[in-house]
Amino acid sequence: MATDDKGTDSIALKVRAFRPSDVVSISEILRDSTEAAQWPSESHAKLAATPGGVFLVCETITRLVGFLAARQVADEAEILNIAVYCDFRRKGVASTLLLAALDNFRRSAITRVFLELRESNQPARALYERHGFVPAGIRKSYYRDPTEHALCMQKKLTDPSH
Ligand SMILES: CC(C)(COP(=O)(O)OP(=O)(O)OC[C@H]1O[C@@H](n2cnc3c(N)ncnc32)[C@H](O)[C@@H]1OP(=O)(O)O)[C@@H](O)C(=O)NCCC(=O)NCCS
Repeated sequence: MATDDKGTDSIALKVRAFRPSDVVSISEILRDSTEAAQWPSESHAKLAATPGGVFLVCETITRLVGFLAARQVADEAEILNIAVYCDFRRKGVASTLLLAALDNFRRSAITRVFLELRESNQPARALYERHGFVPAGIRKSYYRDPTEHALCMQKKLTDPSH
C-alpha cells in the first residue's frame, strides 16, 4: 500500500477482462449496489462473449473490487453498468475502470459514449462529470421500483487528451 499526495492510503489496482469465474464476486458487489442494474449472473458471461461487449473487472492483490460493463455499436458505446464493492469506494476504482474502458473505446474508433442513470444517483453523476460526461437529456419515468426519471449523459471522444 502506498500513500498518495492527498495523504490517504492508495491501493494497487489492476484492470483485466471478465472471466466466468468472476460471477460470484460480481454478485456480491451487486448485492451492495442497489443503484446498479441487477443483472442475473448468466448475463455477465453473455455480454462478455457478445461482439462489441466490453466487460472489465478491477482487482486488488486480494479481491475483485469493481466491474464495468459496456457495449459498442458502430462508432458509439454505451456504459451499461458499473459498481464498486462498498468498502472500496472513493479509492479510484470506478475511475480506473472508466479510464480503461475509454481507452478501449478510442482504440475501436468510438466517437461518442453515452449512459443513463437515476436522477437521484449523485455519486454516479459526480463520477461521470469528473470524467467529462455532460447531461444530454431526461427519459421520463424510465426506472421502476421506485419510478424515477433517467438522466442521460454523454461524452464525445474526439479530443485524444480527455
Ligand atoms: C458510483 C460508484 C461506481 C463510484 O465508484 P468509486 O470507485 O467510489 O468512484 P471513484 O473513487 O473512482 O470516484 C471518482 C470521483 O467521482 C466522484 N464521486 C464518487 N463517489 C462520490 C460520492 N459518493 N459523492 C460525491 N462524489 C463522488 C468524486 O469526484 C470522486 O473523486 P474524489 O474521490 O477524488 O473526490 C460507486 O459509488 C458505486 O458502486 N455505486 C453503486 C452502483 C452505482 O450507482 N452504479 C452506477 C449506475 S449508473
